Amino acid sequence: MTPPAGQPDLPVVLLSHRGPVSFGRDESGRTASRGAGGLVTALTGLMSDLPDAVWVCAASSEEDAAVAAEHGGKAVEVTLDPEPRLRDQDGAGAADGLPTMRLRLVEVEQQAHDDFYTVIANPLLWFLQHGMYGLALAPVLTKREHAAWDDGYVAVNRLFADAVVEEVQARGGRALVMLHDYHFYLVAGKVRERCPEAVLSFFLHIPWPGPDAWRVLPPAWREAVLNGLLGNDVVAFHTEGFARNFLLTCQELLGLPVDLEAMTVRVGDRVVSARHYPISIDVAAMRELAASPEVAEHAGALREAFCDQGRQLILRVDRTDPSKNIVRGFEAFATLLEDHPELVGRVSFLALLQPSRQDVPEYADYLAEIGAAVARVNAAHAREDYQPVDLRLVEDLAMAVAAYTVCDVLMVNALADGMNLVAKEAVVVNTRESVLALSENTGAHQELGAFAVTLHPFDIQQQADALYEALTMGRDLRRARREAASRVVEENDITKWLTAQLSDLAVDLDAMEERPAGGS
Ligand code: G6P
Repeated sequence: MTPPAGQPDLPVVLLSHRGPVSFGRDESGRTASRGAGGLVTALTGLMSDLPDAVWVCAASSEEDAAVAAEHGGKAVEVTLDPEPRLRDQDGAGAADGLPTMRLRLVEVEQQAHDDFYTVIANPLLWFLQHGMYGLALAPVLTKREHAAWDDGYVAVNRLFADAVVEEVQARGGRALVMLHDYHFYLVAGKVRERCPEAVLSFFLHIPWPGPDAWRVLPPAWREAVLNGLLGNDVVAFHTEGFARNFLLTCQELLGLPVDLEAMTVRVGDRVVSARHYPISIDVAAMRELAASPEVAEHAGALREAFCDQGRQLILRVDRTDPSKNIVRGFEAFATLLEDHPELVGRVSFLALLQPSRQDVPEYADYLAEIGAAVARVNAAHAREDYQPVDLRLVEDLAMAVAAYTVCDVLMVNALADGMNLVAKEAVVVNTRESVLALSENTGAHQELGAFAVTLHPFDIQQQADALYEALTMGRDLRRARREAASRVVEENDITKWLTAQLSDLAVDLDAMEERPAGGS
């Protein structure tokens, strides 16, 4: 099988922390479930189409680690359609013609993973990049954080770099290496040293702030992050602003020459490109799910609970991440009810929240704050037969999609967000001409802001006023805006995100091959 037109003619080695499949165990034996989320869905499609590709990710359960150990740490073959399944060593699963994917699950020793994930990647890098530190009291970098950097972040990046190098070398040293997200800033530098013929690209799924924000990290750490990233040929972001911030950070903190027209930075005799590709969703798959009986059943129940008899519903769907600004969202809703008492009993707020990163203390504390905020709003405004906020701590995609279809307003008030796919999902399936109330600090605002009511994430009064505007907007305007937003998402869907990157890399590769060795 040859790769589709416009894609580099090289085997792909992909790395992300979360993988497309995770194994578990129940009374019937080993089970396998798909990873959730847009990124995994999009990349799964790509990876099962490509010959000789491998996806490297962390073993995230005991059973993942057992699968890895049984195969001596090497890649395993899985089928994904219709349900994920490990291909047996005797070949079952491939013989029936189902597409397979190679998966390399890397087991990380528990203490190193804790340091890497719960001390450095989340919170430190995540908070820094989402502009969440006030700096008066946090972060504090003590012996503990220094040890977590050395024995966690650096060590885990080295471990994954070794796995990537092995996979590239198994493919003759020439491969397209696609690295994903803030967990793996140091990998490219290490891979380039050992695989000089590999083409390396990195995609960041979260914001990249301006140079000064990075001064929070000790010089040795921030230089390691930047030099690691500069081991890539291409570093890609969701927005042009993030790409520009990256170049300015290289200029300011490393003193490197950058070209803001060409969007490149020169490192010795090499040129690294900073590009932007806004990630999106699989529109057809989202609509197929929205049309399923399971979603219809949930939608019926939600309509009865929140929408009948002229009542209106405000919805939010998020991980319980402090960057999502959930507490201020509830405070804005309380302000709305105080300013417009006629809405009490007529407008409800449904929050479908997926508990996230509860092993990180800041996230556990934030979940407690969310509960307290809901209790405050409900205590102040509940009536007989009316509970203003319905908080559901669930991870249930069918329920979320049902809620998208029936809500009147979708609230996305994130402090900062690389993209925010919830906004894109809701506009393509909603049936009630809902209004998108969207934070100006999301990547999605660049594409959808013109069709949304913009939220300022720190201004509770402005958010309350914007919610009121959304709830009282005329039907024609709502319909026109939702249809326009939906068209934008249809035209820029996940396939475009992926094919644009791959065809640009194919052009880069042609240019590299025409260039004399050592040239730039
Ligand atoms: C964001 C990050 C992803 C991450 C996801 C869930 O979308 O960009 O890399 O996988 O959050 O977070 P978790 O820590 O649960 O993997």
